[in-house]
Amino acid sequence: MPETIDRITIQLKVNGKPYSAKVEPRLLLVELLREEFNLTGTHVGCDTTYCGACTVLMNGAVVKSCTMFAVQADGAEILTVEGLEKDGALHPIQKAFGDSYGLQCGYCTPGLMLSTYQLVNEKREPSDTDIRKAIAGNTCRCTGYQNIFKAIRLAAQNVRGA
Ligand code: FES
Ligand code: FES
Repeated sequence: MPETIDRITIQLKVNGKPYSAKVEPRLLLVELLREEFNLTGTHVGCDTTYCGACTVLMNGAVVKSCTMFAVQADGAEILTVEGLEKDGALHPIQKAFGDSYGLQCGYCTPGLMLSTYQLVNEKREPSDTDIRKAIAGNTCRCTGYQNIFKAIRLAAQNVRGA
């Protein structure tokens, strides 16, 4: 007889909406978001805490959702890229990435935008060093980062003016 794994009921808020799920203790947060809640804007690149494609905010702080178990998010508030847009209008950060051509394939972009979200909430006028530190955990294999920097500077400006 195969051993069964007890499931645990967790409750959390994602993008302001309440969710409940019965999960195996080994389920990763990124799997919960993508496979149970169908929020596929959170990507999986490396699955080893390196690339940052899976970045989300948990209780306002950037986390790599491939490196957390879903049960660790019990009672938490999560923000994913799907939660940035409001009533069909792009968030100033999303607008800045589009307007600055801060992406090519876009695989890294949701994670970068969430790292930017935390940065611009903490620093209204981030320096280049602040930007470098904020996105140190987000890897982009396409853009060479010049336009990502432009996008983040514009995002900070947009958020200040928003
Ligand atoms: S998928 Fe999580 S850091 Fe790469
Ligand atoms: S735009 Fe392709 S990985 Fe960043």
